[in-house]
Amino acid sequence: MSKIILTGDRPTGRLHIGHYVGSLRRRVELQNSGQFDEIYIMIADAQALTDNMDNPEKVRENIIEVALDYLSVGLDPEKSNLFIQSQVVELTELTFYYMNLVTVARLQRNPTVKAEIQMRKFENSIPVGFFTYPISQASDITAFKATTVPVGEDQEPMIEQTREIVRKFNSTYGDGHTLVEPEILLPDNDACLRLPGTDGKAKMSKSLGNCIYLSDTQQDVKKKVMSMYTDPGHLKVSDPGKIEGNTVFIYLDAFCRDEHFAKYLPDYANLDELKAHYQRGGLGDVKVKKFLIKVLEEELAPIRARRREYENNIEYVYEVLKKGTEAARAKAAQTLADVKSAMRINYFEDTEMIQRQQAYFNELHKKQ
Ligand code: TRP
Repeated sequence: MSKIILTGDRPTGRLHIGHYVGSLRRRVELQNSGQFDEIYIMIADAQALTDNMDNPEKVRENIIEVALDYLSVGLDPEKSNLFIQSQVVELTELTFYYMNLVTVARLQRNPTVKAEIQMRKFENSIPVGFFTYPISQASDITAFKATTVPVGEDQEPMIEQTREIVRKFNSTYGDGHTLVEPEILLPDNDACLRLPGTDGKAKMSKSLGNCIYLSDTQQDVKKKVMSMYTDPGHLKVSDPGKIEGNTVFIYLDAFCRDEHFAKYLPDYANLDELKAHYQRGGLGDVKVKKFLIKVLEEELAPIRARRREYENNIEYVYEVLKKGTEAARAKAAQTLADVKSAMRINYFEDTEMIQRQQAYFNELHKKQ
């Protein structure tokens, strides 16, 4: 069976380093591993509209930002199809049929949707489109017969829902093999699973103003790291410090490698030694923060430089999206045809049915 990746992001803002360690970095590795037959990376504008219906301009303007972030981290249009969700109309048609396979109660149990409904204060006025977006996400994934979906932890309920829809579809219609059950691929490092904001809050989010963006300048990054939340009990350099819940150390867990010590902080062999010194006391926050800035810069500087180049060539970026979208449409159209034929809603191609019905009426007329 072919190995196929499908994943994507809502274009509601520029992507940040939480997206990077949570999924983007992995996607690039998978892309370059050569182990996948097809790769589809989707800008989920239609999904973004499910909770931004009154602000389509925001979604529209952020498509280019996300596309620039994709290209600048190293997603390569020669290897990965980058595309825009709303332009693959087949996805909405699939959603319409999948809706029959899911109950309202099942959607209400989805923990991610539950949390989002609370966060957005929808209360009793939840838009139907928003409520049903997990079904649309199942279409996104199954339309490409994706086997592998690299995403962050918050997407786990969506993949589970997708797997249920696949099983239900396959057992109800066709030969039992029309759709493919996808596997989620989560980051293997705890710090990457859920990178906190610079203020130490559980999640990096634009509305909390605690993000470091891939497109931030070197100055922005420095400023943000220098004002980062650490251990509020670590007042004097000589005090013992806590590393649990200490954002600077969590970021180091996500980004630093032993080579970084040899290069920038040769008094320590690795992160464990640095942590031990901090816990013992005698290591100041500023020294650790300066090291983190260097580590981040090593990763972000080339991304920033590549972004610059693509920013000078916006027309090219839209060409890339257009080509990717064409490839995505071709694939989704094939799956939709398979789905409709499994459901037997392919009337015009079903010559057997047409002949059988003719024979039935012929019989009927004979008796009359
Ligand atoms: N829900 C994802 C997010 O909020 C975006 C998305 C839409 C997606 N469809 C998808 C991710 C399919 C993976 C697979 O970022």
